[in-house]
Amino acid sequence: MTDRFILVLDAGTTSTRAMLYLPDGRRIATAQADLTQYYPRSGWVEQDAEEIWQHSLACARQMVERAGGVDGITAIGITNQRETVVAWDRSSGEPLHRAIVWQDRRTAAECEALREAGHEPMLQRRTGLVVDPYFSATKMRWLLDHASAVGQTGERLALGTVESWLVWKLTGGLHITDASNASRTQLMALDGDGWDSDLCALFGVPSAALPEIVDNAGVFGEARADVLGGPVPICGLAGDQQAATIGQACLRPGDAKATLGTGAFILANMGEAMPTSGHRLLGTLLYRIGERRAYALEGSIFVAGSLIQWLRDRLGLIEAAEDSEALARSVPDNGGLFVLPALVGLGAPHWRPQARGAITGLTQGTTRAHIVRAALESLSHQIHDLADAFAADGAPWRLLRVDGGMSANDWIVQDMANMLNLRVDRPSDVETTALGAAMLAGLGAGLFGSLEEASSMASQATRFVPDMGVKERAARLRGWHDMLAAHA
Ligand code: G3P
Repeated sequence: MTDRFILVLDAGTTSTRAMLYLPDGRRIATAQADLTQYYPRSGWVEQDAEEIWQHSLACARQMVERAGGVDGITAIGITNQRETVVAWDRSSGEPLHRAIVWQDRRTAAECEALREAGHEPMLQRRTGLVVDPYFSATKMRWLLDHASAVGQTGERLALGTVESWLVWKLTGGLHITDASNASRTQLMALDGDGWDSDLCALFGVPSAALPEIVDNAGVFGEARADVLGGPVPICGLAGDQQAATIGQACLRPGDAKATLGTGAFILANMGEAMPTSGHRLLGTLLYRIGERRAYALEGSIFVAGSLIQWLRDRLGLIEAAEDSEALARSVPDNGGLFVLPALVGLGAPHWRPQARGAITGLTQGTTRAHIVRAALESLSHQIHDLADAFAADGAPWRLLRVDGGMSANDWIVQDMANMLNLRVDRPSDVETTALGAAMLAGLGAGLFGSLEEASSMASQATRFVPDMGVKERAARLRGWHDMLAAHA
């Protein structure tokens, strides 16, 4: 019998990918296309939803060909950059405006007004989320108010996050989202099943335009025959950070992972009880599958891989992202430099949309190696602060599992272990976001009986153990916290 594959679409922030997995976890092929980023004003970040679809389609078709046609594919799993909002016309299937990306800060003033009106404690209690432009609700409201095509489309208007958009296009009109993505909109109560009418009213988002909320695994619909060459069931859906948590097999309460992608997102499985944070972390839905539900606490760092891209594309300090590792190793320390990587404001635990980046400690002796090293170190510093917040919320990490493109950099993973003074594990295949979507799709298609069974797809990990002295760690943290106090 020939192999049958699971096809995963991973629609990330900077690129769209399609991958083929065997049910034993082996990833046998990948296609990738970079996405154009638009920065029309300071703090605004947009993407072309049609490009997201066309790139996803082109990558998916390459994988179908590699699988020998749709008969070689058992199921599709979709995972995506979360919170990013797409608005389209149900009749034409055409986008009505550029997608507003999760990094976009344009609704900072509206968020400030919500905070001043005293809504934040209620919103945190009900949705697990703080008030910040990061989440989808204020972005949707902005589109209704400022994009005339969106405001005037009436009953034909469809609003959704990226997975909803892709499902609509693949199926020719099915409008669904999964519970993990819905939990990032701020329009769903964390312990609810559908859209919350009070929250929709507060943000002024018409629930009629929103998708139906479904589980993370199941048989949701079929990609149309004319799209991929034959019908293929869509069986798994999840936001990329929840998918990575599943792909890292963080299935027991207390298991924690950090995905180093465009941003860095740390999620800890909190089990069945709805989490609350006293330290500005987020409560979010990890998955909902039938009667089973698990929650996570999340620390969201907005800038990680995108800082390296910025060093490469805007400053020209490195030619390729991989160069950052050799440069960091080429100097014995950061030379007194600290980087505040607030290129799109600051996320957890600070939540300062208006914060801007800084580099401190420059001297005549500063070289580009020091700047690159200090930039990489800033990620460890931020993760260290999040570790403190998780511990203070009663969810200390026993160890941290890392993944995502930037985790291929051994130096940064070791530095993280050093600053956390904690064991850090990295799987041999760092694409755990896509793996998690494959696990969900396999479960939805009935290849596995449970998530635990599906976790047999996970790969072996390499361990990084701390080897930094107490004094050195303390000095680094002192420098970082001094800089934070002065600039954030
Ligand atoms: O919440 C935003 C997140 O989903 C983006 O993920 O992998 O594109 O950094 P990534």
